[in-house]
Amino acid sequence: MTSPSPLPAPVLSVHDLELRFPVSRDWLGRVTGHAHALNGVSLSLARGSTMCIVGESGCGKSSLAQVLTGLVQPSAGRVDVAGKTAAHNPLQIVFQDPSSSLDGRLRVWQVITEPVFLKRRLPRAELRAMAARLLEQVGLRPEHIDRFPHEFSGGQRQRIAIARALSAEPSILILDEPTSALDVSVQAQILNLLMELQRERELSYVFITHNVSVVRHIADEVAVMYLGQVVEQGPARQVLHAPAHPYTRLLLSSVPVVGQPAPDTLPANTEIPSNRRLPSGCFFRERCAQAGIGCDAPQALRALGDGRRAVRCLRAESTLTPLAPTERVALAA
Ligand SMILES: Nc1ncnc2c1ncn2[C@@H]1O[C@H](COP(=O)(O)OP(=O)(O)O)[C@@H](O)[C@H]1O
Ligand code: SF4
Ligand SMILES: [Mg+2]
Repeated sequence: MTSPSPLPAPVLSVHDLELRFPVSRDWLGRVTGHAHALNGVSLSLARGSTMCIVGESGCGKSSLAQVLTGLVQPSAGRVDVAGKTAAHNPLQIVFQDPSSSLDGRLRVWQVITEPVFLKRRLPRAELRAMAARLLEQVGLRPEHIDRFPHEFSGGQRQRIAIARALSAEPSILILDEPTSALDVSVQAQILNLLMELQRERELSYVFITHNVSVVRHIADEVAVMYLGQVVEQGPARQVLHAPAHPYTRLLLSSVPVVGQPAPDTLPANTEIPSNRRLPSGCFFRERCAQAGIGCDAPQALRALGDGRRAVRCLRAESTLTPLAPTERVALAA
C-alpha cells in the first residue's frame, strides 16, 4: 500500500480558535458568565475542495463561520487565509436566509455589486454589466437586474446571494446552511449550482449543515462539532461509513429512516450540556455509552489510522466498526 499523497498547501487554516460571549453581568456591569461557543477548533481546507462542518444546533457552527469571515474576533487562536491582503479578502460568506441577508431597498444589480463598489468605485455601467454576467452565471435572467429581491422566490434569492458573494472574486466561500431555509426540490438545484461553480472557478468551500444527506452529496472532508470542539474530522467517505467517535455515530444514526425504528446505539436520554459551564474531561462523557476509565481527562484530537483522520476519543479504535446496515440506509436517504 502506498502512503497518502501529501495535501497541497491549504487555502485556509485555523488554529486553536476560541470564542466566548459574555452572557451575564453583576450590578456593576462586570461580566460574570460566558457562553463558550468555540473551545479550540483547528481545521485546514485544501484548494478546490469542500469541507462540511456538521453538528447539532448550538454546537458553534455559525460562530465558526463568523470568525472565519472576520465578522467576529476570536477570543484566542488564529485564522490564516492564503492570498489575503489589506485590499483583497478572498473569503466570502453566504447565509442561511437570503431574505434577511439581502438589503430589500436595493435593486438586484446593487445588491450583487455592493461588495465590489465598497472597495472600488467603478462606473455604474460597469457594475450593471458585471451584475448581469453574474446573474446569468447563477442561472437567473440578466435582464432582471433592476428588480428588487422580494420579487424573486427563496431559491432565486439564494442564487442572488451567491452572485453577490462571487462578485468579490473569492477563492473561498463559507456557506452557513445555505439550503436549509429552502424547499427540498430547490435545495438540490442550489447544491448543483454550487458544485458547478466550484468546478468552473476552483472554489474551496466550508459548508455548514446539519443535514447528513447534503454532506454525503458534496463533502470531500467532514468535521464533526460538539460543544464548540471538533470531535472527528477526515475524508468524508471514512467518517460517514465508519465513524470513530461515539458522537459521530449518534449523529449519523439519528438521521430518521422511514419505516424503521431508530437504532439505539447510544442513550438518547441526555441533553447537550450547557456551554455556560463546560464539562470536565471529555465533553461527551455524560452522553457516551462507552465512557469509562480515562474519560474524566480532557481529550485532544489525535491522528487515527492513515493519519488523515483525527478523533477526540481515547476509545476511537474500538468504536471504529462500519455502521450497521440499518444505519447505512439512513445515510443513503
Ligand atoms: N452573539 C451572541 N451572544 C451570546 N451567545 C452567543 C452569540 N452567538 C452565539 N452564541 C452562543 O454560542 C453558541 C453557539 O451558537 P452558534 O454558533 O449559533 O451555533 P450553531 O450555528 O451550531 O447552531 C450557542 O450557545 C449560542 O447561544
Ligand atoms: S473519551 Fe470516553 S467519554 Fe469521550 S467519547 Fe471517548 S469513550 Fe466516550
Ligand atoms: Mg447556525
